[in-house]
Amino acid sequence: MTQLLLRHTPVTVLTTLTLLLFGCSPTGSSDQAIRNYAETAQPEDSELASIYRRSCMACHSRGTSDAPLTGDGDAWNKRLEKGMEPLVDNVVSGMGGMPPYGLCMDCDTTEFRELIAFMARPAET
Ligand code: HEC
Repeated sequence: MTQLLLRHTPVTVLTTLTLLLFGCSPTGSSDQAIRNYAETAQPEDSELASIYRRSCMACHSRGTSDAPLTGDGDAWNKRLEKGMEPLVDNVVSGMGGMPPYGLCMDCDTTEFRELIAFMARPAET
């Protein structure tokens, strides 16, 4: 009996350590990876990146007022089920905690489409 306990102890210790490191939720570590990605990710195109930084990033890099996070593929897929154009319309007219034009008053719909495609691209987790 003692031997049996001893044999199993390292496994228990490892399991406990794993739970401590990664939290209780099995998706915890990848949520964190998405949050890390969202904090810094920027579009490759420099003009689009500067629009993103001054308009969308404040909310979509931190999930302010439940904004879908940049790189959160699941969250964006649910929204994209509506189709791209309804999403663009909602940015233009504003939605919930998002002000009209997502604060980019001089953006055109092509830029909004590109920004959405960038934000919806899943982070590699
Ligand atoms: C002040 C914060 C804020 C800013 C700035 C902002 N958003 Fe949002 N955005 C949100 C929030 C909050 C939601 C979720 C709205 C809801 O579901 O009620 C959202 C949702 C969206 C959606 C999903 C709309 C839908 O129909 O589901 C898109 C697309 C979007 N934002 C694009 C952008 C773009 C592009 C920019 C920059 C040009 C931007 N946002 C700037 C807060 C913001």
